[in-house]
Amino acid sequence: MKERTQLIEPDFSFYRVKNELTVDGIPVSKLVEKYGSPLYVYSGRAIRESYRRLSQALKGLPVQICYAMKANSNLHILKLLKELGAGCDLVSYGEWHRAEAVKIPRDRRVLSGVAKTAAELDALMNLPQAGVSSIHVESVMEFELIVLMANVKKRPLTVSFRYNPDVDAQTLDQISTGRKKDKFGLTREEILDLCVNFGDDDYVRIGGLSIHIGSQITKTAPYEKAFKALDRLCREVEFHLGRKLDGVDLGGGIGVSYVGEKTLPLNRYAALVKKYFSRYPKIVIEPGRSLVANAGILVSEVVYSKVRPGSRMLILDTGMNDLLRPALYGAEHAIVPIDSTPDLRAKAWDVVGGICESTDYFARGRKLAVEGLPGERLAFLSSGAYGFSMSSTYNTRPRVAEVLVDRGKVKLIRRRETIEDLLGPEA
Ligand code: LLP
Repeated sequence: MKERTQLIEPDFSFYRVKNELTVDGIPVSKLVEKYGSPLYVYSGRAIRESYRRLSQALKGLPVQICYAMKANSNLHILKLLKELGAGCDLVSYGEWHRAEAVKIPRDRRVLSGVAKTAAELDALMNLPQAGVSSIHVESVMEFELIVLMANVKKRPLTVSFRYNPDVDAQTLDQISTGRKKDKFGLTREEILDLCVNFGDDDYVRIGGLSIHIGSQITKTAPYEKAFKALDRLCREVEFHLGRKLDGVDLGGGIGVSYVGEKTLPLNRYAALVKKYFSRYPKIVIEPGRSLVANAGILVSEVVYSKVRPGSRMLILDTGMNDLLRPALYGAEHAIVPIDSTPDLRAKAWDVVGGICESTDYFARGRKLAVEGLPGERLAFLSSGAYGFSMSSTYNTRPRVAEVLVDRGKVKLIRRRETIEDLLGPEA
């Protein structure tokens, strides 16, 4: 029996065999040797497992999972999720094209986004139902534009009003979206005004209401507050429209464990969905992070180390351009050596990237059993969501390669960019 050490709970894909980090039993060091460093590595099995856990919790409810592809929009990941039955939440015309590329059925796509431009709407409105099942309206002006365009083009479509319920999601300030001060959605008064003054239009049907109060939510209380407010508003809207709504969209936000924090109990989340919305024949949810975060790691190599009075610094070949979350939000990711050396004593390290920015720190004073020698390899765990998708070419660094391990097979799902890729558009 091989010795296995689990690294992330409740994920079962990244574990050590002897001292080596593996993804579903395949040594990560082998992947880096073949595809280079830094490297994003994903486990198909972990994605399937998180999808299964969520669907299982919601079993019996008429829920359509519309994966928020901004979390990780690699076409191969999208295809895998589509095959599991997922639709998608889109926030741009670009993302809509990703959905087209992997043929996610149009009736399983919802379109969010605070600044859908007239050009984007125009392109979409040349298609039946604008190529999606519902457009989430975020402002009065946007609604007026949609009504005008749909009437001019004589294109029937369905919208839902995104409600800002003024609820604190109790998560990082920078990823909260449902408070009055946040830029997202419409107020209760705006929504009721639109229902009273416009009601249903010949071409634009008000299908329902939607919310998304924030991301990385680990407590049930904010969901309960938001669902309660949404339920109340649905009833008010139905009163004004004189008919039932088709359904609701409850957004995403389900949190995951990054460094051992407690996560949202899915059965309690499901119980809340049932308590407030089981009267609807259609309930959409838009999870992003919870489906992919713990299914991915970013692997990096030490380039140098140096000692400063009171600190020791590991300088890596990656940086905030590849994994922005720590620099942007102060987010924490577990960091582990790829090959652990049992006899090595852990020392406190500041872990930094190579970008010319003082915020390019992944961790300060993190205990790591490494020597600080060039070529030592580390993995940033839980990097499958908002990792590659938020990466950039800042400092003219080509974006890294992505590899998917699925059903025992290793697949390069995005090749490493080249300098030519970067300079090309400026030629
Ligand atoms: N639906 C809407 C309308 C959203 O804006 C988002 C995320 C989601 C669904 C998916 O939320 P999730 O289930 O992934 O929490 N870059 C940040 C997260 C920003 C999330 C933006 N919106 C991070 O790295 O933590």
